[in-house]
Amino acid sequence: MSFYSQDLLEEIRSRSDIVDVISGYIRLQRKGSNYVGVCPFHNDRNPSMSVNPPRQIYRCFSCGAGGDVFKFVMEYENLTFPEAVKVLADRAGVVLPEQDASREARQQADIKAQIMELNRLAAKYYYYTLRQPAGRQGMEYLLGRNLTEDTIKKFGLGYADKYNGSLYQYLKSKGYSDQLLKESGLMQVDEKRGMYDKFWNRVIFPIMDIHNRVIGFGGRVMGDGKPKYLNSPETRVFDKSRNLYGLNLARLSRKPNMILCEGYMDVIAMHQAGFSQAVASLGTAFTTQQSVLLKRYTNEVLLTYDNDEAGVKAALRAIPILRDAGLTARIINMEPYKDPDEFIKAEGMEKFQERIESAEGSFFFELRVMERQYDFREPESKTAFFRALAGRLLEFEQGIERNNYTEAAAGRYHLSYEQLASMVRQVGEKTGGLQKRTETEALPRRRRKTEDSSLRTQRLLITWMSSGASLFRNIRKFVEPDEFTDPLCRRVAELLEEQYEKGRLNPAALFQYFAEEEEQKQVSAMLQDTIPALSGREEEEKALQETILRVKQNSIAWQTAHMDPGDMETLQKIVQKRREIEKLHISLD
Ligand code: CTP
Ligand code: MN
Repeated sequence: MSFYSQDLLEEIRSRSDIVDVISGYIRLQRKGSNYVGVCPFHNDRNPSMSVNPPRQIYRCFSCGAGGDVFKFVMEYENLTFPEAVKVLADRAGVVLPEQDASREARQQADIKAQIMELNRLAAKYYYYTLRQPAGRQGMEYLLGRNLTEDTIKKFGLGYADKYNGSLYQYLKSKGYSDQLLKESGLMQVDEKRGMYDKFWNRVIFPIMDIHNRVIGFGGRVMGDGKPKYLNSPETRVFDKSRNLYGLNLARLSRKPNMILCEGYMDVIAMHQAGFSQAVASLGTAFTTQQSVLLKRYTNEVLLTYDNDEAGVKAALRAIPILRDAGLTARIINMEPYKDPDEFIKAEGMEKFQERIESAEGSFFFELRVMERQYDFREPESKTAFFRALAGRLLEFEQGIERNNYTEAAAGRYHLSYEQLASMVRQVGEKTGGLQKRTETEALPRRRRKTEDSSLRTQRLLITWMSSGASLFRNIRKFVEPDEFTDPLCRRVAELLEEQYEKGRLNPAALFQYFAEEEEQKQVSAMLQDTIPALSGREEEEKALQETILRVKQNSIAWQTAHMDPGDMETLQKIVQKRREIEKLHISLD
């Protein structure tokens, strides 16, 4: 939560017209009462972002990004909330009172900024050393790995020399405290020897966030020493689960996909060969947050994990994570080479492009891995495989999706669709539709939440409620916030009610109450959605009545399902309420 007062935030907001502000970053065009533009938060050419002046909010219909003017600046410039407030205050000429900031919050922000600055200085230092006589060995190593000088520059590669106090002394000479140096992750502390450089005698790969700020480092030995790579620890500015190596460049590549691989060198080799859409996770397993990050820029991810047992396992883990984020995944076959770096060195970019084009869909890749556990010459084993396959197909919850995959799998194994579908049904009946995954397939697969109709109705009602004061006044006569069973809808309804009581509905001011990215997206969807176009007042009235009724009925159904069966008092209340609803006359006046 911010440490600025509500009044001050409103003052800044009122002087920061969202159309003006966003126009400063991207081109907006008027369309009816809204403005549209190309969304900067994912890779797109179409104007899927819409900016709504009356409500002072924006939303992208393609990637779901959305929020108020503060949120836009935070996202675009990758700032924290207080930082975005500062940017907009400066722009609007509002002076921020120093004492408004809590001491602690300011210190935190300060430390982060100082660590970023230290990282920048360190990166420059390593970069410079690489080009000095002391860096010759490093330069030779990099050139020996076929990197061009351009590439070395583009990725800001550097060198940490043989003396493990060089960076420490350099940064001390700039006046930084030991405490801060320790927090930066650039130093190692040891009881006997005190503080010394974490990286020495290694080539250095600076890791940048999407705004080209250095957040950490990887360092490689120039030979066969161990460990091969050393990485910065997580710090206040370096969260390995939320960043991807190379994304600062890849996000601007305007390619139809992203390529996800394992190594720094792989990313660099691919970029050098023209595959500028390559990124890598940071020496750790691929995460949900990273998949959400990728989804901002693309709809398809190509995996080029190492061509070994560990790489296959990593791919099998990544696939469901990608799917859950709404990304399609295909797997690039690197055989007979170990990784893209080696492939490109041996075969060149055209051959790699061919491999991209022939990349295998993730489902077939999963099947191929599964096949290896069975012996198709043995009827029993073969049958067991088909049973496992049916179980796998049952995991697709949506009918059409399951049918499509069933069809594809039937084709692959020369079965008829009906044969396989009936097997799926049988296995489904036996297991109640739930299948335990087999051994190598024990993947963390979260059930995709299907948006049920009650939730949609509740969201629709929120859309109505936020459309204007007179509508709101009408609706609140019939529905109370706690009749929303969805927690997010309930919270939004409560906040709207608070605003209404204070005299003014202000949907854009709701975002600051939701800290989670996912929540903000959902809230912006509710606020920005348009009410389905209806032909007249009568029809509109009827639609609203139905929506209100459904929300109320849903609330009662929920209460009934969750009450203690012996609780007569609650039961009576529910019965009473049900009667009221039957008699309810909802009008728009
Ligand atoms: N990695 C790491 N620590 C190690 C080994 C690997 O953090 N000790 C991470 C690094 O991010 C590395 C990635 O895992 O880039 C892939 O490792 P690996 O496949 O072993 O190395 P390559 O990328 O092939 O590196 P190189 O080509 O330089 O040998
Ligand atoms: Mn390699």
